[in-house]
Amino acid sequence: METSFVWSSNRVGEAPEAVIRLITEEELKGSGALVEPSIDKQLRRSCEKGLFMAKPGQTEVYSTLGLIEAPSVLFVGCSSGGGLGELRLAAAAAAKAARGVKAASAELVLCASVFGEELERHGIESVAQAMTEGLLLALHDRQPLRREEKERFALSEVVFRPEEGFLASADDRAAWDRGTARGKVLAGSVAYARDLTNLPGNDLTPERLAFLAEDLAAAYELDIEVIDEWTAAEQGMGGLLAVGQGSVNPPRMIILHYKGAPDSQTTWGLIGKGITFDTGGISLKRGLGMEDMISDMAGAAAVLGALRAIAELQAAVNIVAVIPAAENMPSDRAFKPGDVIRTLSGYTVEIVNCDAEGRVVLADGMTSAIRRGATKLIDVATLTGAVMSALGFEATGAITNNDSLMTDVLRASERAGERIWQLPAYPEYMKDLRSDAADLKNSGSRYGAASKAGMFIGHFAEGLPWVHLDIAGTSWLEASRGYEPKGATGVMVRTLVELTTGE
Ligand code: BES
Ligand code: MN
Ligand code: ZN
Repeated sequence: METSFVWSSNRVGEAPEAVIRLITEEELKGSGALVEPSIDKQLRRSCEKGLFMAKPGQTEVYSTLGLIEAPSVLFVGCSSGGGLGELRLAAAAAAKAARGVKAASAELVLCASVFGEELERHGIESVAQAMTEGLLLALHDRQPLRREEKERFALSEVVFRPEEGFLASADDRAAWDRGTARGKVLAGSVAYARDLTNLPGNDLTPERLAFLAEDLAAAYELDIEVIDEWTAAEQGMGGLLAVGQGSVNPPRMIILHYKGAPDSQTTWGLIGKGITFDTGGISLKRGLGMEDMISDMAGAAAVLGALRAIAELQAAVNIVAVIPAAENMPSDRAFKPGDVIRTLSGYTVEIVNCDAEGRVVLADGMTSAIRRGATKLIDVATLTGAVMSALGFEATGAITNNDSLMTDVLRASERAGERIWQLPAYPEYMKDLRSDAADLKNSGSRYGAASKAGMFIGHFAEGLPWVHLDIAGTSWLEASRGYEPKGATGVMVRTLVELTTGE
């Protein structure tokens, strides 16, 4: 369901079902008017008892019993000057509180106390964008496939009500509306990536992923190439084919082109790991938790989600998006330890672990992007358990061969509020990937494994600036938090969009 965003001054019809008031601790402890005298009094009583302290993200919900037109009021704690990240979280808490009282429409008070400083510091557009992202992303979780399908709760309308004299000029409101529009596009693209990632493996095969990419290309008039297993063999994509050969569902190399800046010398190569299910192949994974490996194409989803947003924003950039898609299965025809394969680049790889399959398909993805003119490379992949050991669910791990590109990526991630932590790419790590049988082996010891896995991919960058993003810990959650649901998060969609279209 689409959420519409309107200004209270332009609105006719019934009152919204809830009023959302962000509130700081100072305000709560003061005596200024908030929503309505007796409601304000009750809120402050709750504060005196230590129940509601306006801590960031804390909510207090009241039934208004006719004191004001809206049946509910939702107070959400927020510090002043807490930054865009905190606003996103406050908006998420508000959206969840609205869901809690089944309020499909809500009025958001734009108060100077909370928004004033943020508007000064980050600009109107960014603040509006962050609020929109928080509101919309918080409500987008996995929809179970049931006999009786239930509709997902969504806010159908958000009404902005600025306080007296605040955001009063037409210019200010236009800037706010631009931010809201951008936030809507980004949230829609994150939702798209989440839905794609949550699809089960029996539904989302490599071929089906290619069909869905074709739908995306059709919707946004993008050029697309879908390379099937026969053409991949002709072209020499030995990495993709080796990983895919164990499955009855054949692999695909999916390549989309977006040309928004014909005169620019820069083409971003975005390469997303598209393992539609990872059993580990002949190096079979243990059974416990293996079902989560439906999300081993979250990198592909992030790249497609970012491309969707970039196309919808009609951004002036060039992108070649590459998705090596395969299902990693054990079978009589699966690739196996000891096999030596020749990748598209010509580099040969000795397979020592069939569960280190992501880097093998990504090698061919990197070469495919380079051959189509990519000048800067970003790969996004659920690559290693090791990155989860190092960073948990709290940050995406990154590796680079180019510090200036890494700086740009880190800045973009900060704007997006998606944490990235750089891991070292010491040359010594590559020693562990030396092979007696080929140019490289696909796995080394478990020590420093996240760096080594990333550097394997970097070997195929042909010296171009490259950043690797390992989203194994951040793309799939065991429990929801803030504006991220349980299951697929759609992480890195917003960072990739900020990176390629931001300042
Ligand atoms: N897809 C996995 C990594 C992964 C693990 C993602 C858990 C999300 C959650 C990847 O293909 C893999 O199996 N990596 C192995 C590599 C090892 C065998 C060298 C790992 O990290 O254990
Ligand atoms: Mn694996
Ligand atoms: Zn994998």
